[in-house]
Amino acid sequence: MKRLFRRKTIQAIQEFLEASHETQLKRSLTAFDLTCLGIGGIIGVGIFVITGVAAAKFAGPAVILSFVISMFACIFTALCYAEFAALIPISGSAYSYSYATLGEFFAWIIGWDLVLEYMVGSIAVAIGWSGYVVSVLKTVGLELPVWCSAAPGAVPGAIINLPAALIVLALTVLLTVGIKESAKLTSVMVFVKIAAVLIFIAIGFSRVDPANWHPFMPFGFGGVITGAAIVFFAYIGFDAVSTAAEEAKNPKRDLPIGIIASLVVCTILYIAVAAILTGVVSYTELNLPAPIAYALQKMGFHWGAALVSAGAVTGLTSVLIVLLMGQPRIFFAMSRDGLIWPWGSKIHPKYKTPYRTQIMTGIIVASFAAFIDIGTAAELTNIGTLFAFVLVCGGVLVLRYTDPNLKRPFRVPFVPLIPVLGIVFCVYLMISLPVLTWYRFLIWLGLGLLIYFGYGMKHSRLAQNNSK
Ligand code: ALA
Repeated sequence: MKRLFRRKTIQAIQEFLEASHETQLKRSLTAFDLTCLGIGGIIGVGIFVITGVAAAKFAGPAVILSFVISMFACIFTALCYAEFAALIPISGSAYSYSYATLGEFFAWIIGWDLVLEYMVGSIAVAIGWSGYVVSVLKTVGLELPVWCSAAPGAVPGAIINLPAALIVLALTVLLTVGIKESAKLTSVMVFVKIAAVLIFIAIGFSRVDPANWHPFMPFGFGGVITGAAIVFFAYIGFDAVSTAAEEAKNPKRDLPIGIIASLVVCTILYIAVAAILTGVVSYTELNLPAPIAYALQKMGFHWGAALVSAGAVTGLTSVLIVLLMGQPRIFFAMSRDGLIWPWGSKIHPKYKTPYRTQIMTGIIVASFAAFIDIGTAAELTNIGTLFAFVLVCGGVLVLRYTDPNLKRPFRVPFVPLIPVLGIVFCVYLMISLPVLTWYRFLIWLGLGLLIYFGYGMKHSRLAQNNSK
């Protein structure tokens, strides 16, 4: 039993970080790069696609409230992430934090669970990207053959979603070559997509007709909560800042800035977009793949619609970069700890990136993105991410109790209130997701347990060090 709860001490992790050269990543990211990385990972399918669907099917104009509810879950959790990220600036994000607080067993569970956030999240975004690109190409007269433009079952005659698979493979090459290059590209993309969102806000602001906000809650409060559990997808990504911790120049100061600043900027934009979108057209018309572009078109701004579509494609690309960057770094950390095969903990001699796990992630994501549907992937991503958030908030509470005197460069205020509220909001959103998603989630966790007890527990580096 004790073996399950063996944990790394914070001091050991910090010493490891200072001493280890052989498996060290290159420190090149500034606070600004990290904030861009966060925004790069946040604004994407959630705001450009899912908001419309959530308003039309679940929340009505009260999707604004759905965003506010989801925001609370994220803000409380972001503060907890910031405390950990500054304290343990190590690759692997929530996985590494749990290793130092809740012990190896929980660390494994969370690491395994994060695959749902990053890997399955990448699949969802790649499919969304493909949908947008296919429709944008169509508007300029370039129609892709149906057989290669969507997953089987999505449209009659479709066999493979080739654009989704190809964008994943192309970005995998980019990420293997260098994180700085990828971060630079992400910064440019972030400006383009923020511009797209601001253009929409600026045009829509004066066109709002308050009559569209009535009835405000057509599906009752239950609909608002379901809407919140779904639009939660829009916020995912701020935590990805923490996966690049070992590549930050001054992680103790810059990681909290990156995490919190990116979330605050996106929250403000989201609430404004949700209010304006449901204010300029009736929510009943929004069940579309490109609701924001549709609203602009309806207001007569065709150039605006084209610009926003371009911004959306750019935005989705940046989200994919960030998610595809996060997953290999988590695998890398797990491999370095001996919980999965050691093959994954090699750094590329020239590019200094975890190239093996990067390439493996790319191949798996591309294969699934080519053949599955976006809804399944997005809901599974949400439940996995919410579960990770619960454990991160719980981890802050545990560590305050077990190691109260650690020097924390960033402290969550009002402990235990903030972490407890984080847990309550995340669990509330989790139970609002469909039962089928829960089954899939539990099956995934069960598979993870088999792997841990069959391999990780015996090969864990911590176990081997302890037995020496
Ligand atoms: N938040 C990201 C998106 O909406 C995952 O695409």
